[in-house]
Amino acid sequence: MSRLLTEKHLKEAAAELKAGGVVAFPTETVYGLGASAFREEAIRHVYALKGRPSDNPLIVHIPDASWLERVAVDIPAEAELLFKHFAPGPLTLVLARRMDVPDIVSAGLPTVAVRIPAHPLAQALIRAAGVPLVAPSANRSGKPSPTTAQHVHADYPDVDLPILDGGACAVGVESTVLDLTVTPPAILRPGQITAEMILAKTGLVVVSESSIAKAPKSPGQKYRHYAPQATVLPLPTGVSWDTSIRTLAVQDPRHIGVMVDEATYATIDRVGVQAYLYGAKPDATLAAQALFAALRDLDARGVYWIIVPSFLNEPDAVAYEDRVRRAATPVQRILFVCTGNTCRSPMAAALFNHHAPQGWVASSAGLAAYPGDPAASHAVQIMARRGIAIADHRSRPVTHDLLRQQTVVVAISSDHERFLRSRFPEVSSRLHNLQAFSPDGTTFGDPYGQSLAVYERSAHGIEMAIFNLIDAIERGAFDDVRHDS
Ligand code: TXA
Ligand code: MG
Repeated sequence: MSRLLTEKHLKEAAAELKAGGVVAFPTETVYGLGASAFREEAIRHVYALKGRPSDNPLIVHIPDASWLERVAVDIPAEAELLFKHFAPGPLTLVLARRMDVPDIVSAGLPTVAVRIPAHPLAQALIRAAGVPLVAPSANRSGKPSPTTAQHVHADYPDVDLPILDGGACAVGVESTVLDLTVTPPAILRPGQITAEMILAKTGLVVVSESSIAKAPKSPGQKYRHYAPQATVLPLPTGVSWDTSIRTLAVQDPRHIGVMVDEATYATIDRVGVQAYLYGAKPDATLAAQALFAALRDLDARGVYWIIVPSFLNEPDAVAYEDRVRRAATPVQRILFVCTGNTCRSPMAAALFNHHAPQGWVASSAGLAAYPGDPAASHAVQIMARRGIAIADHRSRPVTHDLLRQQTVVVAISSDHERFLRSRFPEVSSRLHNLQAFSPDGTTFGDPYGQSLAVYERSAHGIEMAIFNLIDAIERGAFDDVRHDS
């Protein structure tokens, strides 16, 4: 069992660190798993506890810039300037490493990453321990970074780990990592402190790594982080929350989680979804602060999907968008297309999602659809028998924009396929016909206006074809389909 400690146990925690122990502690960004930067054994223990690959280096934490010489050499004037403006705070600098800092800290790199955390408990702990502390984020590898002591506790149920409780972290996403050993300096990991802020305060021009190199220079960036159990879906731009929720067509709304602000939540029609309310109105900074807690909380509530807001063009949301992108399962989108988008294609999309292979999301559209029509009542009934809810479905027409977002497009019939090919030639290489997946070559004629029995046969035929389609996906049939947006 891990142990929750408070400020009054600071001496005790510092003593553990001095003796080569590991202590989790709060910073303003996320909780860290601390150990003395000069104790190899303790650092090995940190890697082991986290389950972290040993080629991923650690950040060394110091209380103020006067400690820099203890861990770095050839310190450039830019480092002093940056720390003058941004320390203490969520900025990590990569510098030339002092050779008596053990190799294991930097996974053998000749550099060392250093930061000056702002949380008073972190400051007090480092000073009391009297040594620089390495501290990776205190999550177990693959989990979202912890932003409360309880998150840390939940990740190490069977370890005797002292955890200093300093409340919820103010920033919520990890520090900006800025490499000062290259010219121009490069941001290896986006954080709350952006290139624009650095330019404005210091006049230094820094670039982001993605704009200079393909191969990640910061080894940590190659790992997929923050993977919750649920599939994380950033709300696409221009799509409403209700549309996004409806697309999933789940019978039980409790399987859908939304991280949303209160004002937006009040506008969502679909009742019963599990909500994590992060603030009064849309706010990128508050969303960043809440993101990891929301993912953990909604995951614990057992949802299958977590829809999170997007702040795509907001300059202060770079770190938030980066973490969302890393948490989001790379989603492949599949679009089913029929004529009116009220019977066959919504049933196909709902059936696909019901049996959904991991990482795929289906939706539907019609070649001659009126925007906003509900699904045919027979279709709703037939799907309800299978425990699938499409009562909230609203029809929409096929557009170039919609097609651009799809990995695969499936026409319900040969007529739809032909029409798509001629009207939307750009989609040809990603276009399939559902009939090709039918075990007995059934064609899927329009059941519109016919009896419930006809609908049932139609749904059954479509479902059989969907099974084969999912089989093909799971065998990797569409793996080399390129998403060209
Ligand atoms: O906000 C934070 O930085 C938190 C709190 C606890 O301080 N710490 C944190 O540490 O996020 P960690 O270990 O989860 O992430 C460290 C990142 C990784 O992406 C790693 O590859 C990079 O910093 N890094 C560390 N040392 C480096 C070095 N010498 N050169 C390049 N990248 C380095
Ligand atoms: Mg981390």
